[in-house]
Amino acid sequence: MNQSAKEKIIIAIDTPDAKSAKCLVEPLAGEGCLFKIGLQLFTAEGPSIVRDLQSLGARIFLDLKFHDIPNTAREAVRSAVRLGVDMTTIHLCGAPAMVQESVQAAMESKTLVLGVTVLTSMDSESLQSIGIQSNPENQVLRLAEMGVANGLRGVVASPLEIAPLRKMFGPGLTIVTPGVRPAGSDLGDQKRVMSPAEAIRAGADYLVIGRPVTKAPNPLAALRSIASEIESAR
Ligand code: C5P
Repeated sequence: MNQSAKEKIIIAIDTPDAKSAKCLVEPLAGEGCLFKIGLQLFTAEGPSIVRDLQSLGARIFLDLKFHDIPNTAREAVRSAVRLGVDMTTIHLCGAPAMVQESVQAAMESKTLVLGVTVLTSMDSESLQSIGIQSNPENQVLRLAEMGVANGLRGVVASPLEIAPLRKMFGPGLTIVTPGVRPAGSDLGDQKRVMSPAEAIRAGADYLVIGRPVTKAPNPLAALRSIASEIESAR
């Protein structure tokens, strides 16, 4: 896929309401990047926020991380497909039948279903506390392997897992990576970070970037500067 640098950037719109989301997106919508609506904004505003941002020209990644019985997950993905979003997420710990049903629900649509592997807030200790003995990297690879075997074409994974995933699955798997921080920016609560250039060099297809753009004094300038950092990495 020959994408421009901006097309590789997904801006996380973690705002509390529609008004602030629209203010943020309006000046950025024509730049070619995607916009991620997560649980906070969707729970506050419902599907109308997806339509409102789409009407500004924004392409949407609806990140609601579905995890339920296969039938319910399938119908949730169908609803996301009907909203016309470009990407949506399921939790891979939902196991093979849930993955198959979810992937099936988006077949023949433009919506890419991404599998969430291990949340970056989890470490070996927290995995053990829920009965999983593997370390995070092995668990990510194991879940991704199961997902791909059940028709999945993309995953969300931390910067640390990009290279092992790329090595194992080659160019066919879409890798979306949060935890990206441009040089010199505030880490916030992100611990295991990479710069945009490092993440792209490691093999990420898309970078999820929130606060370094949304809290910048000039979000458009911040977005353009990240895009040139990506451009220089290629
Ligand atoms: O502001 P920041 O760049 O940290 O935002 C990253 C976005 O990616 C947030 O919406 C966060 O919820 C999301 N995310 C993450 N780590 C994950 C999965 C999602 O930071 N493992």
